[in-house]
Amino acid sequence: MVTSSVPEQQVLTPAAVFDWLDEAAELRARAGLTRTLRSRPAEDPVLDLANNDYLGLVHHPAVTRAAADAVMRWGGGSTGSRLVTGTTELHTELERELAEFCGFEAALVFSSGYAANLAALTALTDPDTLIVSDAYNHASLIDGCRLSRSDVHRAPHSDPAAVAEALATRTHRRALVVSDTVFSVDGNAAPLAGLASAARAHGAALLLDDAHGFGVLGPGGTGAPAAAGLSGQPDVVATVTLSKSLGSQGGAVLGPRRVIRHLTETARTFIFDTGLAPAAVGAALGALRLLRAEPQRADRAREVARTLADRLTAAGLRASTPDAAVVSVRAPGPEAAVQWAADCRTAGLAVGCFRPPSVPDGISRLRLTARGDLTDDQISQAVEIVRAMEPVEE
Ligand SMILES: Cc1ncc(COP(=O)(O)O)c(C=O)c1O
Repeated sequence: MVTSSVPEQQVLTPAAVFDWLDEAAELRARAGLTRTLRSRPAEDPVLDLANNDYLGLVHHPAVTRAAADAVMRWGGGSTGSRLVTGTTELHTELERELAEFCGFEAALVFSSGYAANLAALTALTDPDTLIVSDAYNHASLIDGCRLSRSDVHRAPHSDPAAVAEALATRTHRRALVVSDTVFSVDGNAAPLAGLASAARAHGAALLLDDAHGFGVLGPGGTGAPAAAGLSGQPDVVATVTLSKSLGSQGGAVLGPRRVIRHLTETARTFIFDTGLAPAAVGAALGALRLLRAEPQRADRAREVARTLADRLTAAGLRASTPDAAVVSVRAPGPEAAVQWAADCRTAGLAVGCFRPPSVPDGISRLRLTARGDLTDDQISQAVEIVRAMEPVEE
């Protein structure tokens, strides 16, 4: 008789199958890491510095009108993968204008920035590729690395010399260096020139996630790769999200035409995903055209960020030095960060609350978005509310 080598399994009743989730929730609660959804009214009276609407465009009439027009013409959804149901002229226009604006040969739009990052990382790598990824990269880049089936080297944060060393000792045929251009937690910029020369010296491609640079950095908001003279280079690919500076939804990969063609034909998050909804495409196009017409919007977002950070620092808080539109303030721990964010809200200010696992260095923070449409009075109001929080202990 054949006996099974599988250990005897405890057969759970259907009602007990998910009991472990309650235990996991209890552990999160004890570590101060519970996350809850809060309802958001359409007319919220609080000053909102928690969102990523860097240029203050989400309610701009040119953006909402463009979204509404797109819905009336093309309907509520895209109806399927663009390879199956076809590509609207709206998608094509957005891709052409995005590429032109940021200085790349071509672009491909995805249903989110997350999907764009997964696409770039999985389609441009293989098991014979070494990916060198900054330790503080966004979760979508980390997930792209995991899905890539490549070897991944996690390089120390913002350290081109460490990147060069990892590339120099590789045995892989191909290599890809990947980094956020502006890190989402502290708002600090990546050393793009150093990363580009490290990549070039070792024949590696460079993938830059410009989610927080697009619309804010570079001439007229054309992005961090443009600011660093890297847009349009044959070995550089960038990703952007349409959900921050453009006040819409969706993402895009920008790069050499042959890269975009390869993604169109092979990227799973493009092929097996419904095309970006017409309303989002319309809103993004409306916002992009507005930014082209009013390039000073990008300068203003950076100016607001500097003013906000300077005033928070002058008030005795540990504010980051912003390279784009994100300012963070260190909190003593996750519970304090949650408490501070709740106290800010009670006082009329919405701020982001970043804590493990969303902070790579384990330091909990408040995160404030320096929106380009903030007035000087609103900046002062925000600083007054945050300074009323308990001071940070070392
Ligand atoms: C650096 C970075 N990359 C990618 C994304 C994902 O973009 P999306 O929200 O459009 O999926 C985000 C969003 O928060 C981000 O901060």
